[in-house]
Amino acid sequence: MTANSLIPPSPSEETYSVDQDQGEVFTKDDPFSLFAEWLALAIKTEPNDPNSMALATVDADGMPDLRMVLLKDVDASGLTFYTNTQSAKGKQLTANPKAAICFHWKTIRRQVRFRGNVTPVSDAEADAYFATRARSARIGAHASAQSRPMEGRFALEKQVALKAAQFGVKEVTRPAYWSGYRIVPLQIEFWVNRPFRLHDRLQFKRDAENTDWKTARLFP
Ligand SMILES: Cc1cc2nc3c(=O)[nH]c(=O)nc-3n(C[C@H](O)[C@H](O)[C@H](O)COP(=O)(O)O)c2cc1C
Repeated sequence: MTANSLIPPSPSEETYSVDQDQGEVFTKDDPFSLFAEWLALAIKTEPNDPNSMALATVDADGMPDLRMVLLKDVDASGLTFYTNTQSAKGKQLTANPKAAICFHWKTIRRQVRFRGNVTPVSDAEADAYFATRARSARIGAHASAQSRPMEGRFALEKQVALKAAQFGVKEVTRPAYWSGYRIVPLQIEFWVNRPFRLHDRLQFKRDAENTDWKTARLFP
């Protein structure tokens, strides 16, 4: 196969920069603390959306699906994002409440992957998060039938205008179909770029929530 001119070449020995060698990065025994440390670093360096993550689900035929979403909360109970529960991802998660997520921070050349079970957040938690969103974004949640076909941009703008008029000066409350999901990981893997593709990987695995993590180093 010939080299594709669209794809940048791999760095050669001559061009490899030493600043890509990052020293010790697996600095914590608890994966959530380690993730918090890496995310804090990424927040300092990423130009946009350091909390964005690829979310993988599978559909009824077992066909994987994948899209970016924003992480909105993380602690030892799991990782939370918000969406329209009637969207493609919402339907897939109702039928098969399991997901994988992946963060890749280019500026620090690190990746973190999670796999686990998915549970809906409580109405109270979703209400509290929804209330922090800008009013226009809250109206947008009412106006968008996410993932369903739309005739054109005007159909969306019409819905936004209609919903804005309906709410007037009233509080824009959360629609029942807009909520959050929490991924409760059973597997978490930290990956850091090392020179010449000799990367470092640290995997945490557990059999169930609230059981102990087992760790393993993996060949790159
Ligand atoms: C950086 C980024 C962040 C996003 N965050 C969200 C989000 O938090 N929630 C959401 O529903 N869609 C988000 N989206 C849009 C989704 O990627 C996707 O287009 C949408 O949710 C519909 O996906 P689905 O049809 O698979 O359900 C984001 C897109 C990008 C590029």
